[in-house]
Amino acid sequence: MELPELKIGKFRAKIPIVQGGMGVRISLAPLAAAVANEGGIGLIAASGIHPPELAEQIKEAKKLSNGIIGINIMVAIREFKDLITVAMREKIDLIVAGAGFSRDIFAMGKENDVPIVPIVSSERVARLAERFGVSAVIVEGKEAGGHLGTDKPLLSILPGIIKSVRIPVIAAGGILKGSDIAKVLSMGAGGVQMGTRFAASEESSAAPAWKEAYVSSKAEDVVLIKSPVGMPGRALKTKFVKDLFANKIPAFSDIKKCVTCLKYCKRNYCIIEALENAQMGNMEKGLVFCGERVGEIKDILPVKKIIANLVEEFKESVAGGRKGCKEES
Ligand SMILES: Cc1cc2nc3c(=O)[nH]c(=O)nc-3n(C[C@H](O)[C@H](O)[C@H](O)COP(=O)(O)O)c2cc1C
Repeated sequence: MELPELKIGKFRAKIPIVQGGMGVRISLAPLAAAVANEGGIGLIAASGIHPPELAEQIKEAKKLSNGIIGINIMVAIREFKDLITVAMREKIDLIVAGAGFSRDIFAMGKENDVPIVPIVSSERVARLAERFGVSAVIVEGKEAGGHLGTDKPLLSILPGIIKSVRIPVIAAGGILKGSDIAKVLSMGAGGVQMGTRFAASEESSAAPAWKEAYVSSKAEDVVLIKSPVGMPGRALKTKFVKDLFANKIPAFSDIKKCVTCLKYCKRNYCIIEALENAQMGNMEKGLVFCGERVGEIKDILPVKKIIANLVEEFKESVAGGRKGCKEES
């Protein structure tokens, strides 16, 4: 059995794999375009960068690919509306919105005929989003990397959300293998969103030290931190995180440098700076977001190979499942 297409609004992705947006500057044009070129949906992370840089990235991605390119934006970002305006001007294909719920974005999507796909973790919010006319929802479980909207496992929230809406439901959090894709599709999901596996690709814009930290990590290196955004976040236990746990991060004193990038920020530390440090390879002062299953990733691969492996594993898993059924009957 082949992987089915994923239909989002007017777009049809040949394979139902969305590369999750990863800020700051982990998923930029090279990664998004590589995934789109393989028939998936590539997302540029718009959070933590300013509108001119986002415009450049969208232009670059569109030069590199004719596939489906979207952006991911956190509702918690102060420049949220400006970033969306720029993305729409650059003819972005779709917008994924996480870390909060925005009514404004639905109206902007309708006006510009751009599908909006919010990230949700509950049936109530999924239903509300459908009423606002979104084209699909992404259900993210607690296994995911980055900021988390729930402490519940993906498979415990996915069936209820699939039942409560008619739009496509995309499953995210802890999807690593083709067999994981087969599992959630068999439950009725229309596709998957994957982050961590793609952060450890050749095309991801993370520094080599970040990618090395991923492939040398073990399950016990993955921890939850409190983000100044007011949400928990999943990350590797770097020196920065150890210092954070030990209250050793200097107070947020350099206030002149603060550009109030978030609508709400506790200001106990600058998360954008910590994420930027890690993206550039400063592991001492860096925050490395990752999914719960990062320890299972053992190699940094080109996107083409990652997707070929997923397709192969999916087919094997489905064929194995069928064989198992026949043998049982
Ligand atoms: C390094 C990293 C950065 C992330 N940044 C964002 C982000 O800026 N906005 C967002 O909505 N989700 C973000 N996420 C979540 C991913 O888009 C995706 O939903 C999640 O990683 C899926 O779980 P997985 O990593 O187990 O595949 C991030 C995840 C990682 C690993």
